[in-house]
Amino acid sequence: MSDRKNRQWILEARPVGQLTGKEFRWNETSAPDPTDGQVLVRNLWLSFDPTQRNWMARDSYVPMIPLGEVMRAIGVGQVVESRHHDFKPGDLVQGWWGWQDYVATDGRGVGGMHKLSPGVPPNTALSLFGITGNTAYFGITEIGQVKSGETVVVSGAAGSTGSIAGQIAKIKGCRVVGTAGGKEKCDWLTQAAGFDGAIDYKNEDVGRRLTTLCPNGIDVFFDNVGGVVLNEVLARINLKARIVLCGAISRYNETVLPPGPSNYFNLTAKRGRMEGFIILDYVPRFAESIAALGRWHREGKLVQKEDIAVGLENAPHTLMRLFTGENFGKQLLKIADPPLSV
Ligand SMILES: NC(=O)c1ccc[n+]([C@@H]2O[C@H](COP(=O)([O-])OP(=O)(O)OC[C@H]3O[C@@H](n4cnc5c(N)ncnc54)[C@H](OP(=O)(O)O)[C@@H]3O)[C@@H](O)[C@H]2O)c1
Repeated sequence: MSDRKNRQWILEARPVGQLTGKEFRWNETSAPDPTDGQVLVRNLWLSFDPTQRNWMARDSYVPMIPLGEVMRAIGVGQVVESRHHDFKPGDLVQGWWGWQDYVATDGRGVGGMHKLSPGVPPNTALSLFGITGNTAYFGITEIGQVKSGETVVVSGAAGSTGSIAGQIAKIKGCRVVGTAGGKEKCDWLTQAAGFDGAIDYKNEDVGRRLTTLCPNGIDVFFDNVGGVVLNEVLARINLKARIVLCGAISRYNETVLPPGPSNYFNLTAKRGRMEGFIILDYVPRFAESIAALGRWHREGKLVQKEDIAVGLENAPHTLMRLFTGENFGKQLLKIADPPLSV
């Protein structure tokens, strides 16, 4: 066993309702020794994603996290020891490293292991070029199939996925309206991210504001939230509308699910399409999305906001921020600087 200390958060209990932090237990052990074909990764940065709440609670597109195991999370780390012929000490690598300092891995399994492209900082690899940036790209272009001149509504619009989705729709020539919680986020959408309109769903009448801001109806809805906003949008869709079911964060903490949207049958009258997707299906095409996102960012057409917490000990509270709306932009957590110079 190595003399490197490995701090970990263990999933101790399944969540019921809002996360409290009591679902996790702090653990300190020794870092594992890599075996033949493995590397030892020092974890440096963590991505925080609402779907982690689902991984804690139930089987879905991936099996739920077994109790007693390290909390699952996407991260960027540095190879500090290598017994794998494709990786050397100093390489920055992305994978599902979990809430811990060290992991020994052969890089197989869900999430895999890949080196960061030269010059891409770990935070950007997890935000604009990470799960949320890629989800926005394929959700808007492939599932939403947005076309110039269409009206696009995005819920959770000031969040990591929503803000990029809305900006891509703008780049494609659409009129874009977002919903978000609070004036500060709504002002950022119209003033910094170039949205044509923003609705503060916590303080405004969503239906009435949608009617005002979308006078020609709604062609594409990129939904991160579900619930009331989804229902109000469904009442205002156009012929052949596309509803991109990206997420439904308003439901993730509910113990009893609310009744489905009463306006869903409008999809039939409008010959609309409502489609869910999981970004893992598009991993083989990430080179395409990352090239486009990088180009738009360099050209100043995309702004990317990050919200950075510090310290592995703060991981549970950082996850909770996603469900209170405290996060403003992609929620990341920095654990450490790279121990080896690259
Ligand atoms: N399908 C896929 O493959 C895929 C991949 C990545 C993400 N997603 C989904 O995309 C959505 C956004 O994820 P993200 O990582 O970009 O997170 P995010 O939007 O950066 O953060 C979550 C935001 O959700 C909002 N929120 C929280 N509870 C809410 C509630 N009860 N009602 C309405 N809004 C609520 C909060 O914003 P406000 O302050 O505006 O309320 C919060 O800031 C999630 O639903 C996630 O599951 C799906």
